[in-house]
Parts: sequence; structure tokens; C-alpha cells
Amino acid sequence: MLDKLTYAGNLASLEGLAGDRFRFVRGDVADATLVDSLVAGADAVVHYAAESHNDNSLRDPRPFLETNIVGTYTLIEAVRRHGTRFHHISTDEVYGDLALEDPARFTESTPYNPSSPYSATKAGSDLLVRAWVRSFGLEATISNCSNNYGPYQHVEKFIPRQITNVIDGVRPKLYGKGENVRDWIHANDHSSAVLTILENGAIGETYLIGADGEKNNKDVVELILKEMGQAPDAYDLVVDRAGHDLRYAIDSTKLRTELGWSPQYGDFETGLAATIQWYRDNENWWRPQKAATEAKYKVQGQ
Ligand code: DAU
Repeated sequence: MLDKLTYAGNLASLEGLAGDRFRFVRGDVADATLVDSLVAGADAVVHYAAESHNDNSLRDPRPFLETNIVGTYTLIEAVRRHGTRFHHISTDEVYGDLALEDPARFTESTPYNPSSPYSATKAGSDLLVRAWVRSFGLEATISNCSNNYGPYQHVEKFIPRQITNVIDGVRPKLYGKGENVRDWIHANDHSSAVLTILENGAIGETYLIGADGEKNNKDVVELILKEMGQAPDAYDLVVDRAGHDLRYAIDSTKLRTELGWSPQYGDFETGLAATIQWYRDNENWWRPQKAATEAKYKVQGQ
């Protein structure tokens, strides 16, 4: 595993992993020399590394270009040289957003239309991989997944931010009116889908990953408040995100029918309750990152 350990990294997440099957290297995916030496010894590369938080990309886009664009370029050049199988992890945000009442969902043929600096760099990285497949015969697949939730998620993200706020006696913060819709999938289901694509996906293909988990943000906050014994309206509406995508929704028919994948954590409320319990039980994991995260939000009135 190669990771830069930016503000978002946390070595404590690796505790308990079997040492004989796993090696950690601290470094940058945009470091061509390091990447080349690691790819030389790999059977396959799964590229999860990214600057991933929209709010950060609105404050300072440059790291998103460096890691998401130059980092992806560096990796695909290395796997091209070594003839290594490559899987590129991406996001449904490359497709832009959908209207609230629109019955449509994103499919593999939806045109790219990213809204934020973050999603524009992910779209750019997907297009690089596609071009390397066509021009150089790269043995690559791509997946675009919807919003993840579950344990080990950084406290800047929506669900862990609100859970840890409530633990701290702070009211959850909803952007705008809380009407934006996200399509939630448990992180373990995302992982099982990636493994399925790595093992059985067709080279050059893109697969959308989703678990039919559409919910608006207000409903999610109300569920968190209920599970944590708070009044359903004990939240604050705060300044909206610039360019805030209204709704994401994934049609994962291709992955399910062609590769036989299905999600195992279908019940969002059960998964959310287990996630809340995990944050209650693992304060040592998230506490060191909480104050700095909230300080960044405070500057923006969020
Ligand atoms: O769709 C996949 C994407 O999901 C991934 O590509 C991104 O890496 C990941 O960060 C996530 O993007 P979002 O921008 O949807 O996630 P975030 O957790 O930042 O926000 C989820 C929704 O909640 C969004 O509508 C903004 C809103 N929100 C977020 C925060 C942090 C709030 O209302 N209040 C908050 O405090």
C-alpha cells in the first residue's frame, strides 16, 4: 500500500492487518521513481489515491490537480511500462448532478459533466485512463461509485462529521435546506465490487457501483439524531456549498448482471446504527483530526 499520509491519512487504520500479506510505503503517487519501483513488483495496481473532498477543492484546487491528474498519469505510465493490470477508482460525481424529481439515474453512458474542481480532476483522470487503454492497450478497468459510509471515514465527510458533532454536544450542520440527495453505499460493498471487477471485469470497461441508497441529507441527519437520542430538529442550516450538486443516483445494472455482484449491506438504517456505534467506540481514531476539521468549516460559516 502506497499512501502520502496527508491530513486525511491515519496509520491507525492499518492496525491488525496481517504483516506477511501487507507492506506500507509512505510516498506520493506523483513520484515517478518511487511508483516505478513499486509497480515493478506488483501483479495489479488498484488506484484509490485521491484528494476527495469537494469543500477542500473549493478552498484550494491545486492539490487535486497534482494528486488526481498528475498522480494518475504517473501510475498509468508505470503500469504501461510494466504491463501491469490496473483498476482505477472513480466517482459518480464525474456525471454532474440530476434533478430531484427526475426518474433518471447515472449509467455508464451518461455524458461527463463535472461541477467542482474535485469532480473535474476525477473526470480528467478517468479520461486519461480511457485514452491509455485505447492508445497503448493498457489493461485497465474503471469504476465510478456513489457516496460511501461506514467505519474509518474521515470526520470531514457528512455522516462522520454529524455523528462526532453529536458526540461532542454540537448540533449537526446541514448545507442549504438539506434537500440534496446522495446515493449511500456501505464501504465494504464498494470494496467487494472493486474486487469483483478486478477479478472478472472486462478490460477497457467502466462499471458503476451503487446500492440503491438514495436519501436526502435532512433525512440522514434525522436518522442520526434519532439513533443518538436527540430531538429530530436538533440541527442547524448553514451556508450552502458553492455549486452544490443536487442529486446523485446510480444504476448499477451492468455490474450486477454482467459480473454477478450485489451489495450485502442493503439496510441503510442498520448500517448507520453500526457506524454510529463504531465512532462511539473508536474516539481515539478520529479525535486527533476533529478540531482542525471543524476549524476549516468555521472559516466558511459551515
Ligand atoms: O458521490 C461520491 C462522492 O461522495 C465522492 O466522490 C467524494 O469523494 C465524497 O466526498 C462524496 O462527495 P460529497 O460531496 O457528496 O460528500 P460529503 O460527505 O462532503 O457531503 C455529502 C452531502 O452532505 C452533500 O450534499 C453536502 C452535504 N453536507 C456535507 C457536510 C460535510 C452537509 O449538508 N453538511 C456537512 O457538514
